[in-house]
Amino acid sequence: MSELLPSVRRLQSVTDVEIGMLADVLMDCVEGGASVSFMSPLTRDRAVAFWRVVAEAVKAGERALLVAEDAAGLCGTVQLIYDLPENQPHRADVAKMLVHRRARRKGVAAALLRSAEVTARECGKTLLVLDTVTGGDAERLYARLGWQRVGVIPNYALFPHGGFCSTTLFYRDMGAD
Ligand SMILES: CC(C)(COP(=O)(O)OP(=O)(O)OC[C@H]1O[C@@H](n2cnc3c(N)ncnc32)[C@H](O)[C@@H]1OP(=O)(O)O)[C@@H](O)C(=O)NCCC(=O)NCCS
Repeated sequence: MSELLPSVRRLQSVTDVEIGMLADVLMDCVEGGASVSFMSPLTRDRAVAFWRVVAEAVKAGERALLVAEDAAGLCGTVQLIYDLPENQPHRADVAKMLVHRRARRKGVAAALLRSAEVTARECGKTLLVLDTVTGGDAERLYARLGWQRVGVIPNYALFPHGGFCSTTLFYRDMGAD
């Protein structure tokens, strides 16, 4: 594990204890209404199964997994997805930016995003791409940290408790920084 920003680090492998804490973070976000691939209720078994797949991808070098920690344990996470078509070796997708409700509005997501950018640059990536719920807290975060807003896809996904949400596409040209 290498230290990046204060309280944020990259996991090179993921233990069962860490998978349990990451499952807690994911379940809390879904319960709180975040549209992050899952419908409510998200069972612990499904959340753990999701993180086991991520852990395998980390082991295979297909993803970088960053985590933030507070006194109670892991409280936030974000991923860089490297497993992309062979004609896109220079870019990564940013995915699953999740901060437990207990740790929000303290700059955890901003630190995770900055650390993800540093990690991507260290891995030779020059373009990052992500999508996020239109009008949500994360959209402000990416805009604030200098990401370029591309546009909106209406009715892209469902909120976990039902109802459509739109998504906004963002990119960051690392070469331009
Ligand atoms: C979106 C999300 C990741 C933001 O996490 P966070 O750790 O609260 O983000 P930050 O603390 O960096 O910024 C959030 C706000 O707190 C403010 N803030 C940051 N540090 C602060 C501090 N020390 N004191 C007061 N406010 C602070 C920021 O300015 C920002 O304000 P804004 O919402 O008015 O723009 C979090 O709400 C979340 O996990 N949501 C559910 C999952 C989700 O939607 N993920 C996005 C997938 S793309």
